[in-house]
Amino acid sequence: MKWEKLPVAIFHFSIDNMFCSFTKASELLLEITQYSNKEYRMKTFCLTILLLSSLFVHGQRTELVLNENWKFTKGNVAGAEGIDFNDSKWETITVPHDWAIYGPFDKEVDKQEVAITQNNEQEATEKTGRTGSLPHIGDGWYRTNFNLPELEDGSRVLVVFEGAMSDPEVFVNGEKVGEWGYGYAYFNLDITDQVKSGSDNLLAVHLSPKPLSSRWYPGAGLFRKVRIIVQPKEHFQLWGTFVTTPFVSDSLAQINIKTKVTGHNLRVETAIKDASGKVVASGSEQTIFGDVFEQNIALDKPRLWSPESPTLYYAESKLYDEDGKLQDEQTIRFGVRTISYKAGEGFKLNGEIRKFKGVCLHHDLGPLGAAVNKAALRRQIQIMKDMGANAIRSAHNMPSMEQLELCDEMGMLFLAESFDEWKKPKVKNGYNRFFDEYHEKDIVNLVRATRNHPCIVMWSSGNEVPDQHGSEGVKRAKVLQDIFHREDPTRPVTVGMDQVKAVMASGFGAIMDVPGLNYRTHLYEEAFERFPQGLLLGSETTSTVSSRGIYKFPVEKAIGKMYDDGQCSSYDLEYCNWSNLPEDDAVLQDDEDWVIGEFVWTGFDYLGEPTPYDEYWPSRSSYFGICDLAGLPKDRYYWYKSRWNTSESTLHILPHWNWKGMEGDTIPVFVYTNYQSAELFVNGKSMGVRTKNNNSKLERYRLMWNDVVYEPGELKVVAFDEKGEPAGEKVIRTSGEPYRIVLEPDRSTIDADGDDISFVTVSVVDKNGIPCPTATNQLSFKVEGAGTYRAACNGDATSLEQFHLPTMKLFSGKLVVLVESTKQAGDMTLQVKGKGLKTGKVTIESK
Ligand code: GAL
Repeated sequence: MKWEKLPVAIFHFSIDNMFCSFTKASELLLEITQYSNKEYRMKTFCLTILLLSSLFVHGQRTELVLNENWKFTKGNVAGAEGIDFNDSKWETITVPHDWAIYGPFDKEVDKQEVAITQNNEQEATEKTGRTGSLPHIGDGWYRTNFNLPELEDGSRVLVVFEGAMSDPEVFVNGEKVGEWGYGYAYFNLDITDQVKSGSDNLLAVHLSPKPLSSRWYPGAGLFRKVRIIVQPKEHFQLWGTFVTTPFVSDSLAQINIKTKVTGHNLRVETAIKDASGKVVASGSEQTIFGDVFEQNIALDKPRLWSPESPTLYYAESKLYDEDGKLQDEQTIRFGVRTISYKAGEGFKLNGEIRKFKGVCLHHDLGPLGAAVNKAALRRQIQIMKDMGANAIRSAHNMPSMEQLELCDEMGMLFLAESFDEWKKPKVKNGYNRFFDEYHEKDIVNLVRATRNHPCIVMWSSGNEVPDQHGSEGVKRAKVLQDIFHREDPTRPVTVGMDQVKAVMASGFGAIMDVPGLNYRTHLYEEAFERFPQGLLLGSETTSTVSSRGIYKFPVEKAIGKMYDDGQCSSYDLEYCNWSNLPEDDAVLQDDEDWVIGEFVWTGFDYLGEPTPYDEYWPSRSSYFGICDLAGLPKDRYYWYKSRWNTSESTLHILPHWNWKGMEGDTIPVFVYTNYQSAELFVNGKSMGVRTKNNNSKLERYRLMWNDVVYEPGELKVVAFDEKGEPAGEKVIRTSGEPYRIVLEPDRSTIDADGDDISFVTVSVVDKNGIPCPTATNQLSFKVEGAGTYRAACNGDATSLEQFHLPTMKLFSGKLVVLVESTKQAGDMTLQVKGKGLKTGKVTIESK
């Protein structure tokens, strides 16, 4: 762990300071030669002081990310906060850390007798897997030491948590310095009075995740970043700066910067830099209103932030005291963009109407659990962007900073949510425990810590909160929305509402800035009529269920259908009693201007909530994802891609064509494509042309051949353009026995930073190189060289194989191996073996 100047630009500051003192010292040195002995001694003394002080960095804000050398144990250990406590037998870990993801899966972990009221259940039944069946309940302790530099008089020391799952109690040098509630909340504590300057300090954290606290896998532990910040006496306050762009035209943008500072008689100077570091505008301000400086800086010819062109700027601010001495410095990254939501127009970004082609995402990263990892998040966002998605909703809690940073950089709109519960519980130990004491603090921290991210275009104060019923809930909705407005007047607030009749009757829906409907497509029209806003958001849509590469017969639309193997059919015709098919949303999204977009439940499968298999074991993760838990696209991915990705052609055939024993049976074939029509061939024989049909919801978006008779061989689809000319072709073939292992890394070069990851898709092919779509071979993994094996995942919701062990079965012919860098640059080789199979090998460079 290294102390870092904050931000990068602060380094210049220290050099400036040193340079300034050094210059004074040199001047003095020149003078010394001209004086008598006494004066000489005096001057030499002054010179020494000056030279020494030139090496001591004044007022420099520094930051230490506490990621390495943590000690961890499960259980509640008496005295673990103490300085003399011996933790040498504890495990050494790095943070972010999720202690539960290592398993084992166990149905007893979250077995509960419960009626899931959100799922319209009336009677309690035994449920398993609801929170992933991973051991996330109970106590855990973390301890680490950090060395503080010599502190100047008046400097403040903060410890900042970007999430701690959950109920954190924080101790410094044995003394309790504070606690928090909600595991997803960001918080900071002032630990100036407890730390020892210029010395080693002990930080200890006690966490105690409760049973019945979540409706999905929450993870457990210090799953997000922990930092120590040393602020100089006069400083920019943490999360105290808000950069907005109230006026934007082609030729000019107004950059408004409100900055909270601590100290007196200060002056702030800001340079606006573009991504290349060039100063493109600047300003200076010394009038302070209370503790807030407000700067308005004119930026000529601004380059706007958008998903297609995510241009970012940097506001580098310096804080000077009355003597003109630099006291603090900070850099805030921001984007220039405008947003508006209006009746008759919908949502506009930079003056252009666009719809949210969004996905909801829970925070877990499949085999990595809740421990945040930038490479995994980047891969998720890229997969969604390739599908044509332009937005993410952080269901149902505060997002990680890393996710927001990546959305800024990669161009992804963001709906930042806060809570799944208010005062009325959904689960016994959910946010209802914290609501009264923490709701304001949690919203304030959420907004202040993240409001400079241009990707965030809307806040959500809640998801399907039971408080939708009753007049108290209406008041609560208003109170929460007002806090958001007070902290950020530039973005609207929504709530994901599923009790549509209730919120129409009570006025709850009418007070929302943007009314968000979860499902209930049959009530969209009525809600639009009844609500005053003149627009409607599909804050959560679809919840169609499927298992990658699994197809069930007969092919039919079904609600809550279950099979003996615990899987759902990938014909994308199965959903829940509260949800619907993708087409039910698509027609509203495509035909109604007042529907401003949707957030599909979900972009990726997540741990927990194995609906419809809530009562079936083993089943421990969701079936809702457009991609599976390993991030591998299901068929539905191509359904969305064919609608959302307008810059690429999509031509996807389902199912696979390996149906040994079903020769002569009917196997319906669907094609997901952006082309209007196509012809299907089985072993060269035409099955006829299908053309999209706007009079049928299903046929409007899918080409379907429902009576294809199976014979092994080749399935070919030829798509036609508007003139009826062949425009694209796709072929899939029946494979023979698995013969050879094939490895495809998503990145062949990764960073030697100790937590970059290459995601290697592993599949098997037959002797002719044809993929084997039903293979279930048990494989084993070995990494040698400058990297380590991190985890594997096959996307099978019923698998109880532990992610971190170096062996796993293929599921529908595929799995993903995660290979992690160390801090040593060099090559690493992943070798994947399976009985009777030709070994697969791939080399990844780490630098
Ligand atoms: C919604 C809920 C989500 C998830 C989803 C499953 O009602 O907001 O968290 O439970 O249902 O379909």
